Amino acid sequence: MKLDLQFVRSQFPAFSEPSLKGWAFFENAGGSYPCKQFIDRLTSFYTKNKVQPYYPYPASILAGELMNASYKRMSEYLNVDASEIHFGPSTTLNVYVLANALRPMWKEGDEIIVSCQDHEANAGAWRKLAARGIIIVEWHVDSETGVLDLEDLRGLISDRTQMVTFPHCSNVIGHINPVKEISRIAHKYGALCIVDGVAQAPHGFPDLRDLGADIYLFSLYKTFGPHLGLLFVHKELIGKMENQSHFFKEGITRNMLTPAGPDHAQIAAVQGILDYFDAVYEHHFDADVAPAERNRALNGLFREHEEALLKRLFDFLASREDVQIVGPNTSEDRAPTISIIPKNKTINEVYATLTEHKLMLGMGDFYAVRPLMDMGIPRPPGVLRISFLHYTSMEEVDQLIAGLKKAL
Ligand SMILES: Cc1ncc(COP(=O)(O)O)c(C=O)c1O
Repeated sequence: MKLDLQFVRSQFPAFSEPSLKGWAFFENAGGSYPCKQFIDRLTSFYTKNKVQPYYPYPASILAGELMNASYKRMSEYLNVDASEIHFGPSTTLNVYVLANALRPMWKEGDEIIVSCQDHEANAGAWRKLAARGIIIVEWHVDSETGVLDLEDLRGLISDRTQMVTFPHCSNVIGHINPVKEISRIAHKYGALCIVDGVAQAPHGFPDLRDLGADIYLFSLYKTFGPHLGLLFVHKELIGKMENQSHFFKEGITRNMLTPAGPDHAQIAAVQGILDYFDAVYEHHFDADVAPAERNRALNGLFREHEEALLKRLFDFLASREDVQIVGPNTSEDRAPTISIIPKNKTINEVYATLTEHKLMLGMGDFYAVRPLMDMGIPRPPGVLRISFLHYTSMEEVDQLIAGLKKAL
């Protein structure tokens, strides 16, 4: 089964937007285009249900039902319980809240292992716990490849370790970490396994039950939906954490980790992402299976398409003498995110030429400051980042390659 790209792209208004015509989008790691199902649901909620939810009058009842359905349907896709899903304003804020909620579970002198491959969202808030008696153990990346080595982790972890945290996938080198294996190592020592899945989820939602992490986070504005952060917390854990909301929210798990209060409309519209996934599934497959199984099939479809494009781009970049590919010199275990450093021109020069060729990319450090420091990459200028998703076409990759040939 091959991905029907024309069908996929017809679900995203950006691809038929006149002002974007001819522009190829390669900054998806910064945020994806939203699907039309999400936009429609958001518009509908703002039109018909923009009232305080959960009161017993029709518009309000429906508002609450739409929100509840997002928790339920999202949990079914991720293969967990609806009570384990939380929607916060962003992943950065979700980690900040988590660090405060978990600290009372630990005692002075306990250790937490924090990777140096993370976006600062999953680093700074943990490191701040050093001022509150927790010892931060840094899990550094390889200075050449930027990869986290499991042998290093085995040397760092001990019975004093309360938590291991790292990214499912790096947002700068695109390397995918073996979450299941790391989670097994953490659990062997009784430590929690906390995973930043922000750079991985856009390439296929995870099966969280299968992955085995205790806490998993990703950002819905990078997965075709609203500017919210999704937080999964294993149900056995939340009761042990400190309530971060109003005192009278104690025990109400949906509120305990979202002190900012929910964005009703955006939460209700989250379902639009799943409407989109359902539409893609139904377009490609006949079997009527549970959402978690649909998700598995979609992951395969998306991955196969992304891999074909990634191979074309990676082979081109690897063939060039005038480019340094940041990270491992392979497209294996890599999401379609490639950072490069031009050898003969400045990043700004290359970027300017790519813009002339109607190519949208990212440059800088992407808040992955610690990985760049570990790899000795100066910032500024940082790197030029190319990232794409399953809705990207081979023609767009060819447009990028043509642009790079001129720019480098
Ligand atoms: C890997 C990774 N983690 C965390 C974040 C932060 O997410 P948010 O903007 O939802 O706080 C980002 C944002 O780019 C990211 O790429």
